[in-house]
Amino acid sequence: MKTAICYYSRHHGNTRKVAEAMAQAGEVDLIDVTARQAVHLEGYDCVGLASGIYGFEVHKAAVDFARQYLPQGKPVFFVYTYGGIKGTGAKAFEEAAREKGCRVLGEFSCKGYDTFGPFKLVGGIAKDRPNGEDLEAARAFYRHIADSLG
Ligand SMILES: Cc1cc2nc3c(=O)[nH]c(=O)nc-3n(C[C@H](O)[C@H](O)[C@H](O)COP(=O)(O)O)c2cc1C
Repeated sequence: MKTAICYYSRHHGNTRKVAEAMAQAGEVDLIDVTARQAVHLEGYDCVGLASGIYGFEVHKAAVDFARQYLPQGKPVFFVYTYGGIKGTGAKAFEEAAREKGCRVLGEFSCKGYDTFGPFKLVGGIAKDRPNGEDLEAARAFYRHIADSLG
């Protein structure tokens, strides 16, 4: 069972940490959606779409990536991290997946250290997140996804 997790993670690398934890739990390739590289997702059994929440939604670069590269009908799951208010969460990923006829296997989210705007003045919020518990939950989530696909 081979998985690609395609991620956008720019603020503190929080989302990348979660994706890396999932990668420890199985055969997972991590793909930075901003890297200029040839992308072939056809050979994977499933694809994870991952992003921080920026302005109440996942980043457009990750959604555009999904629209461009997600193979028709590929099983998908969603991952996001957020400072405190998740907003629309994975909704934009869901829409991209629906357009491609992709079955959604699940969604994982947790808090991520946030020093955006005024939060910087107070030393940030969701300090130390994702923490060990978050990363263990991420690994368990991925194992569950892998088991469900056989
Ligand atoms: C420009 C910007 C906008 C953000 N907007 C939100 C938001 O609307 N809601 C929220 O809960 N967190 C918000 N955050 C915090 C991030 O979602 C959080 O720190 C996340 O873990 C960042 O992931 P990353 O480190 O993988 O980029 C924002 C951060 C930045 C830099």
